[in-house]
Amino acid sequence: MPVAPAFREMANTAKGKVCVTGASGFIASWLIKRFLKSGYHVLGTVRDPGNQKKVGHLLDLEGARERLELVRADLLEEGSFDDAVMACEGVFHTASPVVTKSDSKEEMLNSAINGTLNVLRSCKKNPSLKRVVLTSSSSTVRIKDESDLPPNVLLDETSWSSIEYCESLQIWYAVAKILAEKAAWEFAKEHMIDLVTVLPTFVIGPNLSPELGPTASDTGKFTVYGRMGYVHIDDVASCHIMAYEAAGAEGRYICNAAVLDLDELVSLLATRFPAYRVPKSLPNIYGEQSYGFDTSKARALGLQEFKGVEEMFDDAVDSLVAHGHLPAAKNATTRCVF
Ligand SMILES: NC(=O)c1ccc[n+]([C@@H]2O[C@H](COP(=O)([O-])OP(=O)(O)OC[C@H]3O[C@@H](n4cnc5c(N)ncnc54)[C@H](OP(=O)(O)O)[C@@H]3O)[C@@H](O)[C@H]2O)c1
Repeated sequence: MPVAPAFREMANTAKGKVCVTGASGFIASWLIKRFLKSGYHVLGTVRDPGNQKKVGHLLDLEGARERLELVRADLLEEGSFDDAVMACEGVFHTASPVVTKSDSKEEMLNSAINGTLNVLRSCKKNPSLKRVVLTSSSSTVRIKDESDLPPNVLLDETSWSSIEYCESLQIWYAVAKILAEKAAWEFAKEHMIDLVTVLPTFVIGPNLSPELGPTASDTGKFTVYGRMGYVHIDDVASCHIMAYEAAGAEGRYICNAAVLDLDELVSLLATRFPAYRVPKSLPNIYGEQSYGFDTSKARALGLQEFKGVEEMFDDAVDSLVAHGHLPAAKNATTRCVF
């Protein structure tokens, strides 16, 4: 993707102030933890900074008292991010509209695309902005009719999911992410914004918030995903930070540790967590799938080693137990969330 050449010459390592949208979210919270740990000042946007249930875990982070500020902003209010973005050198746009069952497809697409453009319109107004890192998704890459793909294909950043195929399966989340990322690229090109996108697969790991967000609750719905990539939340945060700091970062970055079929996943979970009742198999609703991801671009950026699947699920389960969402293994008599 073309970008303003001047931006490419500098590495963004000065640890200035960065804006993280949707700060209370699963990925954003971990990203903020990492930023604070490495000395950045962070301005996080949330819809309700006074809601302790949503922001309490952020205020408890090491360095938060000195270097974290939370302000109100809403994706659906035009200009809402102006002040937050204006104060920062880097913007990490992770906020994503929460989709409820009553939302129509149109509402979901409208809020995903216009929310992203709303943030980028604020970015355009900031002459000191160095780079925008947008959290997109591997669902913008991998969802195609398997019969259109060679067996064992390694999908890379040049691949885009088929909107028609996603629509035929009514996977509106993917349609929204594809259209939002494409709109972001177009806007960034037109307005010379230095944009980089990170495309995580299914993000697994500790949940900093004691509240279960949509992703953590989603772990009960693996069946609908079929063959899927998995990545540790700490690697996702590293990828965002490297994509911001590296002078030569550009374009899209797939962030993935391993791709598993559903039977591989359940077998791993059953072996790893024998105390919990893990289903022996899950129905395969998509038929044979064999794709993988080429992560050489993220590795070249500096993400040499991804944490393994065992570690990411261990960390996720530990955090679910710590927050009281799962019984400790020795007391496990109820059904596991898997
Ligand atoms: N988790 C994954 O496995 C995964 C994988 C690939 C890509 N992603 C992408 O990563 C990003 C973060 O995902 P996540 O799992 O961390 O999601 P999450 O925990 O649901 O966090 C999303 C955040 O967006 C904020 N938000 C929702 N509607 C908003 C609105 N109208 N205005 C402002 N903020 C709003 C919410 O903040 P408040 O409710 O506090 O305002 C929420 O904390 C998303 O873009 C998602 O598509 C996630």
